[in-house]
Amino acid sequence: MVLSNIRKFIFHDLRSVEGYIDPPDALVFLSLLDCQRQHNLSGGIAEIGIYFGRSYFLLKKIAGPDEDVLGIDLFDIGNLSHGISDQYRLFLEHGNRLGLPVDEEMLLVGDSTTLAAQEITDKIGAVRFFSVDGGHSLTTLTNDSHLARDTIADHGVIVFDDTFNPAWPEVTVGVADFLRDNDDAFSTFCMTKYKTYVCRREFHDFYRAAIEQAPDLGAFDLAETHFLGCDAVRVHNPFSRRLLYELMTRSGMGAISERAYRCH
Ligand SMILES: C[S@@+](CC[C@H](N)C(=O)[O-])C[C@H]1O[C@@H](n2cnc3c(N)ncnc32)[C@H](O)[C@@H]1O
Repeated sequence: MVLSNIRKFIFHDLRSVEGYIDPPDALVFLSLLDCQRQHNLSGGIAEIGIYFGRSYFLLKKIAGPDEDVLGIDLFDIGNLSHGISDQYRLFLEHGNRLGLPVDEEMLLVGDSTTLAAQEITDKIGAVRFFSVDGGHSLTTLTNDSHLARDTIADHGVIVFDDTFNPAWPEVTVGVADFLRDNDDAFSTFCMTKYKTYVCRREFHDFYRAAIEQAPDLGAFDLAETHFLGCDAVRVHNPFSRRLLYELMTRSGMGAISERAYRCH
């Protein structure tokens, strides 16, 4: 993995895919996956909730061609043509355009609430990085958090999207329920504006330190926070930088927008 290529991908290519991950979380994904690689913490990578593939292609780019990334989605957005939805067709097209062709064997198309954990591990083994970004109702979040819990490796990380977003209040309830119900085993080590990062308790300090020491996160303010009995690092992206980044990308300076997120 050449880190400068991945930064380039984050700041140049990711915005070309409709979707929801922004540079701060993309850099947290990169930092955690790179830390796992450096420490030989192997395992599969999975995401529930692909949409058009913005975070899926980031995971694929970081993983490289030799690692599988399993994608799970209903893939039912838009019109159907020859049994294929607009969403599915566009997702495959993005993969080809970005030079990250989708291996359709690595997709589970359908409702995640009907999946068994073994269907995931049969495809990719124990999971080292699981992004939960599918249905945002409490029922689905409960199901998906259990799928992640039951499939991750001992050193696995679970990322919950849209926590504390008032548009999706049941996500926050579901994550809090999960952490309380599994409080003996899991803890939160990092929080961003949009996502909550969880691992097994034995790895809490390891992943916390990975965030604190990550070269790619040097541009952010790291603050201390507490969530349901865990101390976690909050990765804060100041308004001034968000504004600078948006101005650069919207005024055709996307190619140099990466500079807004460099550590000075
Ligand atoms: C917020 S979007 C995912 C965003 C994506 N991760 C990105 O980076 O842009 C949520 C996705 O979850 C999918 N979804 C919703 N409910 C689902 C379910 N029960 N099972 C599988 N996928 C589901 C939707 O089809 C949609 O594509």
